[in-house]
Amino acid sequence: MNNEKAIKLLLVDDEDAFRQALAKRLGRREMDVFQASTGEEALEVLKATPANVVVMDVKMPGMGGLDALSRIRHEHPGTEVILLTGQAAVEDGITGIRSGAFDYLQKPVETENLVNKIRQAFDKGKHRTDLAKEAEMRESLERQMATAERLASLGTLAAGVAHEINNPLAIIAEAAGYMRLLLKKEECATIPFHDQLEKALGKIEKSVGRAKRTTMQLLGFAGQPDAVYREIELDDLVEEVILLVSGQASGMGVTVIKEQNPCPIILWTDPHRLRQVLINLVSNGIAACDRGGRVFIGSAFSEGMAVIHVRDTGHGIPKENMDRIFEPFFTTKPPGQGTGLGLFVSLDIIKRLGGAIQVESKVGQGACFRVSVPRRGKACPEVSNDIDWRDKARELERRDNHGAGAH
Ligand SMILES: Nc1ncnc2c1ncn2[C@@H]1O[C@H](COP(=O)(O)OP(=O)(O)OP(=O)(O)O)[C@@H](O)[C@H]1O
Ligand SMILES: [Mg+2]
Repeated sequence: MNNEKAIKLLLVDDEDAFRQALAKRLGRREMDVFQASTGEEALEVLKATPANVVVMDVKMPGMGGLDALSRIRHEHPGTEVILLTGQAAVEDGITGIRSGAFDYLQKPVETENLVNKIRQAFDKGKHRTDLAKEAEMRESLERQMATAERLASLGTLAAGVAHEINNPLAIIAEAAGYMRLLLKKEECATIPFHDQLEKALGKIEKSVGRAKRTTMQLLGFAGQPDAVYREIELDDLVEEVILLVSGQASGMGVTVIKEQNPCPIILWTDPHRLRQVLINLVSNGIAACDRGGRVFIGSAFSEGMAVIHVRDTGHGIPKENMDRIFEPFFTTKPPGQGTGLGLFVSLDIIKRLGGAIQVESKVGQGACFRVSVPRRGKACPEVSNDIDWRDKARELERRDNHGAGAH
């Protein structure tokens, strides 16, 4: 009987006395029974309260059972329908099955028979819903894998292009610098079009700066062989990051605040890459704030990982952008201001360090990015710089336990 308790059943019949008596009998079987007296009413009820099974009379005034059946099949594909027909109307039942009814029974119905049918219909509906869920999950997984593959190859290509562009870019920057030097010389002060030349040079320098920012981001990306692991104290790195973004922050009237960690966190990781990630995140937080806004950066231990959070009081990320913010070149900044590579590159770096990035945000309530990295990343040595690493590890463990108790 337990199974039946879970069955939500809609009983549809215009004969009040028959319907109510049947509802009572089925209710005693611990089904959750609700009722409607016409096809139209049945559709209304289903809109508000989805049912697993509908037991419905075929002959009703207004919308008949067969018309209601095709609407239910269309609008509620997870709901199974059992039709009740008169003795002389077997064809209605057969037409019903052709239109997607689970089965039909002739009136007068025998309760036990009906209960069995309802149970079978419920099982079929459940199986169908499970299959649909499974298919949906498979599709979503396939989509995720396709996106990951697309991003990986796009990123590798972009990093390769950045590498190629970097050299000519350096030559352009140097030549522009040389031209500026020449234009500043006394002999050049009176040459024709002096001011126009200076303006044009300014444009070249600005554009080179922008292109350089793009290539710098991309070159921090994927598979760069020069990852250098060493031991760092996370607090020092956080302080360095705050210093590096202080110009941007004060220019925007935003305060960056370090949240004190009660216990120092020591990591074996690639500090340059991790710093690039934290700069990207804090800088995004600053950009998302209006004047007077705040960005908090702090760290903690969780399940053997160091977790650094960057939280801001900015405008937040709309739901529809959440899936896209890690895509390369996705930006909501005005043209020419954002590369759209910050998060893409950051996620790649963190994955390569063996970690992950999580985001939470509500529009109007800011955003919080959580970066978790293993405390002892790749190639963590047994002995480092003549210091016995095992002593270090024991020391880390001691601090860890202390830290874990603190939150
Ligand atoms: N803290 C945040 N608050 C609100 N939106 C954010 C935040 N961080 C990222 N975003 C959104 O994600 C987009 C992509 O960020 P990403 O860092 O990849 O590129 P960008 O900041 O636009 O460009 P760049 O990093 O070159 O300045 C941003 O344009 C913004 O829409
Ligand atoms: Mg950014």
